[in-house]
Amino acid sequence: MRVAIIKEVEKYEKRVSASPETVKKLISIGFSVDVEEGAGENSFFSDQDYINAGANIVKDVKTLVSSADIVFKVNTVHKDGKGGDNLKIYNKGTKIIGFLKPLQNPAQIKDLADNNIDAFSVELIPRISRAQSMDALSSQSNLAGYKAVIDAVSEFSKAIPMMMTAAGTVAPAKILILGAGVAGLQAIATARRLGAIVSAFDVRSAAKEQVESLGAKFIEVNSDDTNESDNETESGYAREMSEDYKAKQQNLLQQTIKSQDIVITTALIPGKEAPELITNSMVKEMKAGSIIVDLAAEAGGNCKLTKLNEIVVENGIKIIGYSDFPSKLSQDASNLYAKNLLNFVKLMIKNNKIEIDWNDEILEKSCVSFDGKVRNI
Ligand code: NAI
Repeated sequence: MRVAIIKEVEKYEKRVSASPETVKKLISIGFSVDVEEGAGENSFFSDQDYINAGANIVKDVKTLVSSADIVFKVNTVHKDGKGGDNLKIYNKGTKIIGFLKPLQNPAQIKDLADNNIDAFSVELIPRISRAQSMDALSSQSNLAGYKAVIDAVSEFSKAIPMMMTAAGTVAPAKILILGAGVAGLQAIATARRLGAIVSAFDVRSAAKEQVESLGAKFIEVNSDDTNESDNETESGYAREMSEDYKAKQQNLLQQTIKSQDIVITTALIPGKEAPELITNSMVKEMKAGSIIVDLAAEAGGNCKLTKLNEIVVENGIKIIGYSDFPSKLSQDASNLYAKNLLNFVKLMIKNNKIEIDWNDEILEKSCVSFDGKVRNI
């Protein structure tokens, strides 16, 4: 059983899919591990660190993948990819595990199936208790929520906590978080630690208790839709809300946003365009110097003015649309992602052989291509 670890080549990507620590563990459960030369350098894992952990370093990516049973990736592989991102270098029957973007890009998944690549997408791992240690979306979103606040604060021209000095008092900053899921809750916790006055909003009323337990104020829309059983799916994700709810939500946000210094937006329903929560007129009413970080930029953005991977400045308000927040914390992001994949791949091993147990809902639901057929999308 051979695992290959590929050097990621996407422009903003600094993460890697195995750490020296997880390489050791993969070997202890029966794998041989080959790592592409330089794969860990942007996460500060040297080739020597991997060799010390028991891996082989392979220079040529085609040689690397040709002998692999399973390939660990961060980003997906596709027809036009460079290096290890190019699906044409993979043998039929190779298993790939990574962020394969099945909901955003089903055509690429069809290409994987057409090329007989068996693919498992970590985005589709169900959010059930047994899968928590494999939940790569959560491990990465948690870091993104933290880093979004840190980056917003470093762009902000004022201090965050209240400061009473002989020269006068600095008022605490007001930070609003839209969407209190994994990234949002970490953003709330980070903003609170820095001393901000934090409020948060989510369509799921189940989020209220979590928001309040972190010391933030929960902003509630008064609508018939505000009912726990109606606005949350069995898997804990938000449902799309009614037009009445959306209108009331806009009204409330319009009133709230103008007094905020920093807004972090994280609102998303998986597989859907990000809901537009911050309109141009809301941005117009914000104070110059305020910051918006739109974590949903890749899915179209929660703010109308967001541009993917850019900072837009409008009337002195900065709108940050970066899509690589976990990558900016590459060491932690890689360490956590590597553990997620280690825990996931363990499910594929039976009696020292790779065997997919289709009765295991984690494998069944995360598989997007198998034996030449597209699945689950
Ligand atoms: P999550 O699913 O845990 O949280 C999303 C939250 O948004 C949920 O609590 C949901 O109820 C809420 N929501 C949905 N529609 C809403 C609406 N109309 N108004 C208010 N709240 C609404 O997702 P997670 O893991 O926290 O990720 C959040 C976002 O961050 C996603 O868009 C994800 O793709 C993005 N992300 C961005 C990164 C970056 O570098 N830019 C890195 C990691 C995640």
